[in-house]
Amino acid sequence: MSGGEMGGTGANVAGSSTLDIPANRGGAPASHRPLGILAALPQELGDLIEAMRAESGVRTITHGQRDYHLGTVHGSPCVVTLARVGKVAAAATVSALIHAFDVDAVVFTGVAGGVGNDVRVGDIVVADALLQHDLDASPLFPRFEVPLLGMSRFAADAALADRLAAACERFVAEEGAASAARFGTREPRVHRGLIVSGDQFVASAAGVNALRDALPDALAVEMEGAAIAQVCHEYGVPCGVVRTISDTADDHAPESFVSFLTEIAGAYSNAILTRFLDARKAQG
Ligand code: ADE
Repeated sequence: MSGGEMGGTGANVAGSSTLDIPANRGGAPASHRPLGILAALPQELGDLIEAMRAESGVRTITHGQRDYHLGTVHGSPCVVTLARVGKVAAAATVSALIHAFDVDAVVFTGVAGGVGNDVRVGDIVVADALLQHDLDASPLFPRFEVPLLGMSRFAADAALADRLAAACERFVAEEGAASAARFGTREPRVHRGLIVSGDQFVASAAGVNALRDALPDALAVEMEGAAIAQVCHEYGVPCGVVRTISDTADDHAPESFVSFLTEIAGAYSNAILTRFLDARKAQG
């Protein structure tokens, strides 16, 4: 099947004879459009694709070297994919979610380094705003500002952030103590505020202190969220970002990140996304 037969998208479909991808439906009602859910790495998605397979079956479309999994999960039509790591990868992936898959909103889930004073491993941060901490076109433009857009902070969608935070609070109330005992963390706390993103894994006291000095209200650092938020802003698509803290971006960050990612991240994602999607279904 050629790209032309699929509307020129270059997408390949596995497990289906229906080869059109749901792009450009001319503004279908929001209720009929899927939610885009993405993470950087497979461990950060938990069992989401398996849950989709069990509930509705999965149609997988390969587009721009990424697999997009279409189906229903916890009652919501969704497109689930992996962005991979970094701002360019994230921007390209969310752009495809918007243009090729017509998502009505985007949720990014994954891990981050804790930056805020009281943000510890095992806590959860829901973004109210996101900023690219490595963007610096000064002196032509203020540090952090996206040139010609005149913005440095991109707001997460307030309703999505509220719903993600509510899902996190329910998880903590229902399973926080058990989770802390199981994983050897303190009982998780849910924080809301600024998440900063850059194309660097921050792994030194000097690096994290430089972030604290430059951006005193930053709660967490990761490598994708602000790119997603910028693209969503430019296309008017609501976006939410939830991050579990895998490390504190200091000299211990590499080991802490790897063990959290392989042993814990999936359980948090499952717990948060299940509650978020169940509430979304209940809200209709
Ligand atoms: N994601 C998780 N931990 C991180 C860190 N320390 N720096 C950047 N991205 C991260």
